Amino acid sequence: VISLVVLISGSGSNLRALLEACSSPEFPARVVAVGADNEADGLAHAEEYGIPYFLVDPRAFHSREEWGRELLAQITQWTPDLVVSAGFMRILPADVVARLTPRLINTHPALLPRYPGAHAVRDALADGATVTGATVHIIDEGVDTGPIIRQHAVDIDPADTEHTLHERIKTVERDMLVATVRDIATGQINLEELSA
Ligand code: GAR
Repeated sequence: VISLVVLISGSGSNLRALLEACSSPEFPARVVAVGADNEADGLAHAEEYGIPYFLVDPRAFHSREEWGRELLAQITQWTPDLVVSAGFMRILPADVVARLTPRLINTHPALLPRYPGAHAVRDALADGATVTGATVHIIDEGVDTGPIIRQHAVDIDPADTEHTLHERIKTVERDMLVATVRDIATGQINLEELSA
């Protein structure tokens, strides 16, 4: 059974899917802590499941480096086997990534390398794409550039808004994230190999 620290910024529906999965005794992972960069709504899921959480708000620090040091200290005190960025909307400082990769994964609402960044769903719509999707990947020094672990396509409906499309992507994303964590825990996915 592997231990997870999950990082969030928003509603935390991906976190909730992980918490639900981990509440089954057969599931080979446990969430040991949740981290956020703001008073995210998703922290309520951590509370509901009785999982400790920490808040490291960059606005409380003089520099990005100081923020990164505190974030890393908070994460590593839990000695997680895997860190999951699940809607964490800030780019992790390079030294944080260097310390945690390749046992540091992210879920992104597009078929990378298409539409990286913070507005992937909006960007796909603005681009007139007919298909987009979700990607789970290892975080490396770049922005949404790390080795891809899993992807799933989602058709875009002409009537889609950013909200409807994102919600449909998120249903796919949650299943994919849970499956990826399971496969990492069982050794079916080898992060060291993927990042070599
Ligand atoms: C997810 O769609 C995730 O891929 C996206 O934020 C959403 C979080 O939803 N992340 C990014 O766009 C990162 N660039 P949630 O808070 O309900 O899990």
